[in-house]
Amino acid sequence: MEKTLLIIKPDGVQRGLVGEILGRIEKKGFKISAMKLEKISKEKAGIHYAEHAGKGFYSELLEFITSSPSVLAVIEGKNVIDGVRKMAGKTNPLESDLGTIRGDFAVAVSHNVVHTSDGPESSKREIENFFSNEEIQTHILCTEEWTC
Ligand code: PPS
Repeated sequence: MEKTLLIIKPDGVQRGLVGEILGRIEKKGFKISAMKLEKISKEKAGIHYAEHAGKGFYSELLEFITSSPSVLAVIEGKNVIDGVRKMAGKTNPLESDLGTIRGDFAVAVSHNVVHTSDGPESSKREIENFFSNEEIQTHILCTEEWTC
């Protein structure tokens, strides 16, 4: 089953958007197969955002993502990587359509509420950075064949 990493970033947690965001994901038909509240360490943040090292916003990004707890979740389902990215909207919230998470709840690229994996390779790498295999539940939840 396809999996993606969803991070509800410190701004989303502090603004009380966790239930709203997870509710949207669940109502869409995707399943939560692992989840935790964690203040991301500098080390894990560096691994997660390694491709952005050296960019102008990198230190601000690391400072922000490690500033207070995030919700980390592995989300599972049919075409879930693209599906959750669409639900998140564009990276810059001002370019995100209304109806997407960023379009509805954010105004700044530096505080865009969620991170989602952008492809199968990054999804695998990102999930492994934050979760062990033992923390991921496999398949208690696939009740309707067309969602799996
Ligand atoms: S790039 O250069 O186009 O690949 O970068 P982009 O995809 O736009 O953004 C990558 C992630 O960096 C975050 N970002 C920022 N964080 C803090 N401050 C500033 N100014 C900033 N600009 C971009 C952006 O939210 C992306 O994070 P994720 O978690 O991937 O959404």
